[in-house]
Amino acid sequence: MTKNDKPYLVLNGPNLNLLGVREPDVYGRATYDDLCRYVQKRAADLRVGVRLEQHSSEGAMIDALHRAMTKCAGVVLNAGAYTHYSYALRDAVAAIGLPVVEVHISNVYAREEFRHVSVLAPVCRGQIAGLGFAGYGLALAYLADSRGEVEP
Ligand code: DQA
Repeated sequence: MTKNDKPYLVLNGPNLNLLGVREPDVYGRATYDDLCRYVQKRAADLRVGVRLEQHSSEGAMIDALHRAMTKCAGVVLNAGAYTHYSYALRDAVAAIGLPVVEVHISNVYAREEFRHVSVLAPVCRGQIAGLGFAGYGLALAYLADSRGEVEP
């Protein structure tokens, strides 16, 4: 039995397919497939469905968000570098009317200054950064528990 009929979209952006190979000192040695397995396990624990997608282009990410509008109950979003400058993704997040939690594997605030800005954060329910893969599980737990309702 699942808690929610609709699955949650877990959407990863550019370069996250290279996890495990890419800058392992920053992102660790676990791969994108390891991340998918981790998310599937957390979803099973929470008794919710997930749909995992990774896209390198902005347009494909926007299309995924548009599809989620009718098919998903909420979104866990790691938009990679698009986080810092994509107004098109920001508009898509604002447009779909779903609860979206922004996630970053690394602590973006301890890195270069350009990573300290998120143009997505104002239209997301919240943000988790620096907790590695755990951030995805925590975001999913929030969405599953709150069902997108805002609680102070
Ligand atoms: C990232 C942080 C971004 O600044 C970076 O461009 C990424 C990954 C993270 O998960 O820590 O691609 O979103």
